[in-house]
Amino acid sequence: MKKILITGGAGFIGSHVVRRFVQNYPDYHIFNLDALTYAGNLENIADIENAPNYTFVKGDIVDADFINQLFNEHRFDGVVHLAAESHVDRSITDPLAFVKTNVIGTMNLLNAAKTIWKDNFDGKRFYHISTDEVYGTLGETGLFTETTAYDPNSPYSASKASSDHFVRAYGETYGLPYVISNCSNNYGPNHFPEKLIPLFINNIINHKPLPVYGDGKYTRDWLFVEDHARAIDLVFHQGGNHETYNIGGFNEWQNIDLVKLLCDIMDRKLGRDTGSSRELITYVKDRPGHDLRYAIDATKINRELGWKPSVTFEEGLEKTIDWYLSNGDWLANVTSGEYANYYKKQYS
Ligand code: NAD
Ligand code: DAU
Repeated sequence: MKKILITGGAGFIGSHVVRRFVQNYPDYHIFNLDALTYAGNLENIADIENAPNYTFVKGDIVDADFINQLFNEHRFDGVVHLAAESHVDRSITDPLAFVKTNVIGTMNLLNAAKTIWKDNFDGKRFYHISTDEVYGTLGETGLFTETTAYDPNSPYSASKASSDHFVRAYGETYGLPYVISNCSNNYGPNHFPEKLIPLFINNIINHKPLPVYGDGKYTRDWLFVEDHARAIDLVFHQGGNHETYNIGGFNEWQNIDLVKLLCDIMDRKLGRDTGSSRELITYVKDRPGHDLRYAIDATKINRELGWKPSVTFEEGLEKTIDWYLSNGDWLANVTSGEYANYYKKQYS
């Protein structure tokens, strides 16, 4: 039985990836390593906690001794690495936390994998899940491809770019088998309500202002989280060694248009007057270093692995909103305690 380590599997994307691997690969044993930071939540994966091929491990990837011990004990065959500090706004107020988890934490995993695999790399794979933000910003036109030069602008994207570079360096220097994918903005169930879509869903439910940064004309390319999880499965199993794949939705939206659409769907679902949620839109101070536009050219993964998005934006938003409306306890739990302090600091 193959032993696969998935890191960050209690977070937003990680929980969808862990569930997919546990359910689709009964011949794997899946270890889910997660520190359960503010973004990690065991409720996200409660439905699989008793699966016979699944083990949850609480631990911090920044702790090198712990990581080395874990790899020595279980001799993993593969690593799917998602654990990270993931929110750009938090990286602006606390950049060092991002260096610790995203750079040092990734280094610790690389070192442990290199050590236990050094005699035989056959059948082994280190998969680093990364972001399109490493490419910096686009102007009004163009798309990010796998050969676009790295040009990160935020502490978050600089930390992810750094970890991508270390993964490639371990491949070149030590022969570590790796694959990397860089994905655009995900949305869907279990998304922590600090990010645009879940934050605004929660605020609409509670009649709170919708804080749009700057003029709202920033553009993102949105992908439903289950489509990303399916791409990760494909890249892990069929992606080429030492290759990079860009993953995106071919689905660009200016923030303000997306927010208006969200308001209108929410009015319908909540039985409110059409246009009432739009009145909550409030333009606020811009994010420092705000990247104008991200857009992915996902031709390579389509051509080589046959992947393309399967969920339309309309379907995906409906599913997402329905999930939040029927998981009020989840929302209440994650927005209690520390969340209130974060919200006050960020938006007051
Ligand atoms: P998230 O913040 O929802 O989850 C991160 C998870 O990592 C949490 O469960 C947290 O507890 C865990 N974690 C954080 N620090 C840790 C540490 N030191 N040790 C162990 N676990 C730790 O993030 P997400 O949005 O699910 O993103 C997952 C990955 O995908 C990240 O690497 C991110 O950079 C990447 N990514 C995200 C998006 C997106 O739109 N969300 C897009 C492209 C790439
Ligand atoms: O592109 C992939 C990246 O997408 C991932 O690597 C990151 O982990 C993920 O957080 C996401 O980064 P963004 O910064 O694009 O996502 P966020 O949801 O924070 O913001 C989306 C857009 O909405 C961005 O232009 C900023 C804007 N925004 C965001 C918030 C939280 C607002 O206008 N108001 C807000 O309150």
